[in-house]
Amino acid sequence: MKHSDRREYGEPKPDLGIGMVGYAFMGVAHSQAWRTAGHAFPLPLRPRLAMISGRDEAAVGAAARQQGWAAAVTDWRAVVDSDDVDLVDICTPGDSHAEIAIAALEAGKHVLCEKPLANSVPEAEAMVEAARAASRRGQVAMVGFNYRRVPAIAQARRLIAAGRLGALRHIRVTYLQDWLVDPEFPLTWRLSREKAGSGALGDLGAHAVDLAQYLSAEPLAGVSALTETFVSERPLAAATLTGDDGPRARGPVTVDDAALFTGRLASGALASFEVSRVAAGRKNALRVEINGELGSLAFDLERLNELSFHDHTEPATTAGFRRVLVTEPEHPYLEAWWPPGHALGYEHTFTHQAHDLVHAIATGTDPAPSFTEGLQVQRVLAAVEESAAKNASYTPVPV
Ligand SMILES: NC(=O)c1ccc[n+]([C@@H]2O[C@H](COP(=O)([O-])OP(=O)(O)OC[C@H]3O[C@@H](n4cnc5c(N)ncnc54)[C@H](O)[C@@H]3O)[C@@H](O)[C@H]2O)c1
Repeated sequence: MKHSDRREYGEPKPDLGIGMVGYAFMGVAHSQAWRTAGHAFPLPLRPRLAMISGRDEAAVGAAARQQGWAAAVTDWRAVVDSDDVDLVDICTPGDSHAEIAIAALEAGKHVLCEKPLANSVPEAEAMVEAARAASRRGQVAMVGFNYRRVPAIAQARRLIAAGRLGALRHIRVTYLQDWLVDPEFPLTWRLSREKAGSGALGDLGAHAVDLAQYLSAEPLAGVSALTETFVSERPLAAATLTGDDGPRARGPVTVDDAALFTGRLASGALASFEVSRVAAGRKNALRVEINGELGSLAFDLERLNELSFHDHTEPATTAGFRRVLVTEPEHPYLEAWWPPGHALGYEHTFTHQAHDLVHAIATGTDPAPSFTEGLQVQRVLAAVEESAAKNASYTPVPV
């Protein structure tokens, strides 16, 4: 960390040099968050976009200019080794998470790693071990389950923790997209087990599982699952075509298109999950409903400023789901934003994530979700795959 030599009003804040690996979808979302967090919130450290890395020199250079990074390199190891970088932000496919995160932690950096934490439980375990050793040196490691940072979701957690739903009975999460409906959609990295670990399960199911466990503050004890790959071969992506391939060369899809599973929370509440990338018409439909003995909550990401709340202790004549607009200054994260009713969006979840991580670094506290929580989600995903391979037989999640 370096003190800025610019003249500022009040005490200059120490910098937090950010180094990012990967510059596409999540790279852009995280860049925006690092640019914004210190301006929206009075952070104790000032994030500085120090260095970005990618494998293609021209593309990473263009991304650096567009997103406001001071330097661009073509080898992620240069980010990990740089004295100018305090925190490494990993925005690459899952097959590189473990190697980059462990190297960064061993080099003394804080780490933010996109979800799912890894492509396998052993990789995630190695990452947790590296994070524990780093924690003893004062470093922090967080996994990017950004949906926890939707204000309405954080508010739902507050209500559940305050006992407004009483004992939980049901939690159901559906996360549906449709970008794989077309069988001609090309075979990108998200359709390769080697690159992505799993399909809709690791991509969308990881979020669904994290949200269920975050909101209920309980781990899933076991699952029964079905998975399906509806389109088993797809056209090779342009980047993987060789000169000898015909115009319609295809390769095998090695991950699931959809996963459907039920589970039991530690307290006995029942959970159900449906995740799909072939749900025609559904773009990014993440929906959560929780029913407790005293009431219910419902959330829909496509209306992310709202929470539906039913208080079952009210007289039956007037009780019912009411729409709570989660834009009051008392709601989570809203103190930094606009007057009530002036809505927030998807990108704010990443800004809130950056805010929480910077506070954890400045105060030396464990950030949530930690790598340990990411590992636990990974264990649920592995149990889902094991159950699906055994025709949906109930499979405990190892503790
Ligand atoms: N939190 C969320 O809601 C969310 C949303 C989408 C993706 N993700 C996660 O973010 C990660 C990246 O996904 P994305 O959508 O940004 O993918 P993407 O394909 O848009 O971008 C991947 C980036 O990683 C780079 N890259 C790939 N392999 C690399 C390697 N070995 N070394 C260095 N760079 C490499 C690519 O050049 C590209 O810049 C994945 O883990 C994904 O699951 C999270």
